Amino acid sequence: MEPPEMINAGELVLKRWEPEWAGELSAAVHESLAELQPWMPWATDDYGPAEARAYAEQSVENWARGTEFNYAVFTTVGELIGAIGLMTRMGPGILEIGYWTRTPYAGRGHMTAAVKALTRVAVTLPGIDRITIRHKPANGASAAVAAKAGFTETARDGDHVIRDFRP
Ligand SMILES: CC(C)(COP(=O)(O)OP(=O)(O)OC[C@H]1O[C@@H](n2cnc3c(N)ncnc32)[C@H](O)[C@@H]1OP(=O)(O)O)[C@@H](O)C(=O)NCCC(=O)NCCS
Repeated sequence: MEPPEMINAGELVLKRWEPEWAGELSAAVHESLAELQPWMPWATDDYGPAEARAYAEQSVENWARGTEFNYAVFTTVGELIGAIGLMTRMGPGILEIGYWTRTPYAGRGHMTAAVKALTRVAVTLPGIDRITIRHKPANGASAAVAAKAGFTETARDGDHVIRDFRP
């Protein structure tokens, strides 16, 4: 079970992370810290190129192990506008999607388009019968993205809303 390394999403392209994009990733995170920090524990003030490189290298390893499939999200002219990924941590048959958008590119429908494209691919993977998004109840932007991409609330898990997409 492995998704493609590149996925076309209309005005965007999703590409498996490469360590050489660490500088751009670090810049994108820094520009977006105020929006990321309430929701992403890794988004700290001292996040820099070393952390970004470690993330990209870990993503390559996790992809090879089949545990996570993380993508950089680019515009068709090569601007890094965020990240999205599939995680297997919820168990067999389920893929969980996580995402963030680089702040100057937010509010343009980009992450909704990326989630739709990745979901379309994920449901075709062998043995997968559910795609999930988990978000905090107060995360209105994430809830809006999930709802626009066709995910409906099915449960609450501790302090998270669980939204599912079933093919
Ligand atoms: C969630 C996030 C990825 C959305 O990215 P985006 O590219 O702006 O998403 P889109 O433009 O496709 O859609 C955003 C929607 O959220 C809505 N929105 C934005 N802020 C909101 C808020 N505070 N409350 C409610 N809705 C909000 C927008 O109006 C838009 O919906 P609309 O098209 O119906 O108007 C981005 O806000 C982000 O990176 N947040 C921080 C990281 C994060 O929370 N990741 C998800 C963790 S579960």
